[in-house]
Amino acid sequence: MRINKYIAQAGIASRRKADELIANGNVFVNGLALKEPGYDVKEGDVVEVNGRRIAVQEKKIYLALHKPAGCVTTVKDDLNRPTVMDLLSDVEGRVFPVGRLDYNTSGLLIVTNDGDFAYKLTHPKHQMTKTYRARVAGILSAEKCAKLRKGVDIGGFVTSPAKVEIIKAYPRSTIVDITIHEGKNRQVRKMFKAVGNNVQELHRTAVGSVRLGRLAEGHYRKLTREEIEYLKNC
Ligand code: URA
Repeated sequence: MRINKYIAQAGIASRRKADELIANGNVFVNGLALKEPGYDVKEGDVVEVNGRRIAVQEKKIYLALHKPAGCVTTVKDDLNRPTVMDLLSDVEGRVFPVGRLDYNTSGLLIVTNDGDFAYKLTHPKHQMTKTYRARVAGILSAEKCAKLRKGVDIGGFVTSPAKVEIIKAYPRSTIVDITIHEGKNRQVRKMFKAVGNNVQELHRTAVGSVRLGRLAEGHYRKLTREEIEYLKNC
């Protein structure tokens, strides 16, 4: 944020007055008198005006993004693949995704600039449920569903009880909803693999009671006040 806007947002002076303060040598950044009126204040900068430290409270941002398949959840990708950040370029603020979805998974991703919120939401202690709709190869028998519900070994880790509901059975594939509250790497894919059905498509429909709904792929919306409160209090 430009220094004069920063000073104005901190409630010290109007932008014009801030320019005067800078010109008169009353503004210090990281201990040095500021010479550059167009200086862009960065995270971690210590800004002082007339000898007193000032700060701008960054407005908290909470979004629901419909991540498409074929993009990574990381902020930057070594392989130069599209990232979810490409879809958030017009968001004012340094937002980042909460948790992750695989490259080939689509669906609901919460995005924020609130580090405490993100930490709490991903902490295993909070056991936030996540619901996915999967298309798996082959038939998912009642026995397999029972195993998935009880918990399966995904390679040194036995999953906790899950909710499993068959939505539609085709001759060569099955559409199934699954709700889990752990977040092991590729957990849902590994769970279905453990019972012999490979995941062909995976889509996250909900995080707790926050639903993706009809949000178009690649688009985002603001979380409602109720959704934010709900996620904060889980
Ligand atoms: N489980 C998976 O296997 N992949 C995801 O992206 C999310 C959960």
